[in-house]
Amino acid sequence: MLEKNPVIFIILAFVVIMVGTTITMIAPFKWINGPGDRIAEVKPYTPLQQEGRDLYMREGCNNCHSQTVRTLAADVERYGYGGTYSKSGEFVYDRPHLWGSRRTGPDLARIGLKYPDSKGAWHKKHLENPQSVVPASNMPSYAFLNAPLDTTYSERKMKLLDFPYSQADLDDLKGKSEMDAIIAYMRKLGTDIPVKKAAAVTSASAAVVKNPFTTLVAVERDAEGTYKQHCASCHGEKREGTLGPALKGSVRSDAELFKIISGGIDVNGMPSFSGTLDDQNIWKLVTYIKLDTK
Ligand code: HEC
Ligand code: HEC
Repeated sequence: MLEKNPVIFIILAFVVIMVGTTITMIAPFKWINGPGDRIAEVKPYTPLQQEGRDLYMREGCNNCHSQTVRTLAADVERYGYGGTYSKSGEFVYDRPHLWGSRRTGPDLARIGLKYPDSKGAWHKKHLENPQSVVPASNMPSYAFLNAPLDTTYSERKMKLLDFPYSQADLDDLKGKSEMDAIIAYMRKLGTDIPVKKAAAVTSASAAVVKNPFTTLVAVERDAEGTYKQHCASCHGEKREGTLGPALKGSVRSDAELFKIISGGIDVNGMPSFSGTLDDQNIWKLVTYIKLDTK
């Protein structure tokens, strides 16, 4: 009967659609990014980071990389680097957001935690020639970003986005390259949020200062795989040292090595692995890297 009366039918259909729209799209605005959703530690981008973000969009990095850690445990373990899943409050300064939907490459939401190096040496090497650090990578080379940064609109962007900046921030842009900007952006991602720091995480395992794996035979296969996956890109395939120092036949004590691998050395770029590897695997690595043959 209804379908014979198109006007009423259209009005009713519209009402039904609007109910769904209101519940799923309009109502959430009341709580998403509301005051309770803000995270005090999350800071706006500096002019250099913002320029890097614009380059990230210009180069379409988001076509291969997502920037959101989903709530799934596997996602948090793989891409959280000691942080949790992404919260809406982390994106308040992202206009537009760059969550992305494709993961040809890894998620980058917390990439700043993975490569803490204050000089960005890993990023530079990787962006210039991804295959030099990850031989099987299909990421293209971005060596051409070693070009002067265009700062014509930097100040206007900061004003438009309503981000705080100082003349010193703007002066800081002088002489910077596009590479510097994109690295500054990479280094910022995920670093605002409070993460459980390695020291706290390892306190339990630090009590177990004795390496349970004293003979290499038992651990070699596991450790070699872990090493290739997590360490070779900075310490070389044969532990000979590239971006990071040589590890082959390290003379450091087991406990010392455990502490370094687990907690990292922030300023110089040795990441913390306490969020990525469990104690057993770290001990196996300790035994493996002390090996002075092969
Ligand atoms: C064609 C797809 C593709 C594009 C485009 C791309 N990447 Fe990648 N990216 C990858 C893949 C695959 C990897 C994993 C292998 C590797 O580390 O090189 C990766 C890795 C990375 C990593 C290291 C991630 C980690 O967890 O170690 C960073 C950082 C990164 N890309 C940044 C960028 C930036 C910045 C751009 C744009 C300038 C970009 N990528 C463009 C595919 C891509
Ligand atoms: C992103 C690059 C990077 C990755 C990945 C990395 N490291 Fe490092 N590592 C460094 C750098 C850089 C240093 C030097 C830090 C310093 O001396 O301040 C270092 C230092 C170390 C040291 C101390 C060396 C010494 O005797 O001074 C050990 C041990 C170590 N790394 C082990 C590992 C292990 C094991 C892995 C894999 C689980 C790993 N690293 C992954 C960059 C990296």
